Amino acid sequence: MYETLSTEMTGNIYIITINRPEKLNALNKTVIRELGEAVAEVYDNPLIRAAIITGAGTRAFAAGADIRGFAGLTKEEGMALAKQGLDVFFKIENSPKPIVAAVNGFALGGGCELAMACHFRLCSDTAQFGQPEISLGLIPGYGGTQRLTKYIGKGPALEAMLTGNPISAQIGLQYGLVNYVTSQEELMEKTKSILSQIISKAPLAIAKCINAVNAATGNGDGYALETKLFGECFATGDMKEGTAAFLEKRLPVFKGE
Ligand code: COA
Repeated sequence: MYETLSTEMTGNIYIITINRPEKLNALNKTVIRELGEAVAEVYDNPLIRAAIITGAGTRAFAAGADIRGFAGLTKEEGMALAKQGLDVFFKIENSPKPIVAAVNGFALGGGCELAMACHFRLCSDTAQFGQPEISLGLIPGYGGTQRLTKYIGKGPALEAMLTGNPISAQIGLQYGLVNYVTSQEELMEKTKSILSQIISKAPLAIAKCINAVNAATGNGDGYALETKLFGECFATGDMKEGTAAFLEKRLPVFKGE
């Protein structure tokens, strides 16, 4: 049914798996579009009471937006790219049914942002979270500047975003970025067991609870500013150098221009 996702129903839980393991489940345009479609199914299908988003293979949840898709984009196209992802991630965050991330490896860049758009996160002990866009001459563009700051606080979030260094599963647990750390083997069972408990509760109350908790963490103008600034990065030589260097498997030379 989908080109880049595999989906499965177990009981009333819908499992959405990003299925590009050879590219560490990088989020290209098709993945973003299909995630939007799969989330629309979660909203619309009465048989679905909750969903899990995870990644295929044992290495990655998602290693970010697909850097190959960045080549040659203008500032406006960069902003449009950010907006497409952001809209899907808001849809996840505002879903009346719980959508939980089971993070089975790298959750970097857009992968970390996708996990953070979910209502909560479980991860394997091999997971790594992070916003490494700075190493590409970029900033996060799918809500990472806003959600990571909300989840772990300004100091740790700025350190993570300015160094690009990953956050391990255990540190993520200390920050409250993830609720549980399990072995790779136990991750899906643990996630399903929590969701089974949740979906035994009253559906309308679940929806209202998600709505009210989302209001507590607010969605201000920061997202629009992030989109604008992400787009502006596409007009810089540093971003062209950073993304080219990644694809050519070499270190970038940034000139501040
Ligand atoms: N976009 C596009 N392709 C990506 C990708 C991304 N975000 N992340 C990984 N890939 C691809 C690699 O290009 C490589 O493809 P290839 O085999 O055709 O060369 C493949 O996935 C495997 O990745 P590789 O880098 O060889 O694996 P590794 O084990 O050496 O390193 C990472 C793993 C996660 C550290 C590294 O892939 C990485 O830094 N990825 C980018 C993370 C990032 O900057 N994300 C934010 C993007 S905005």
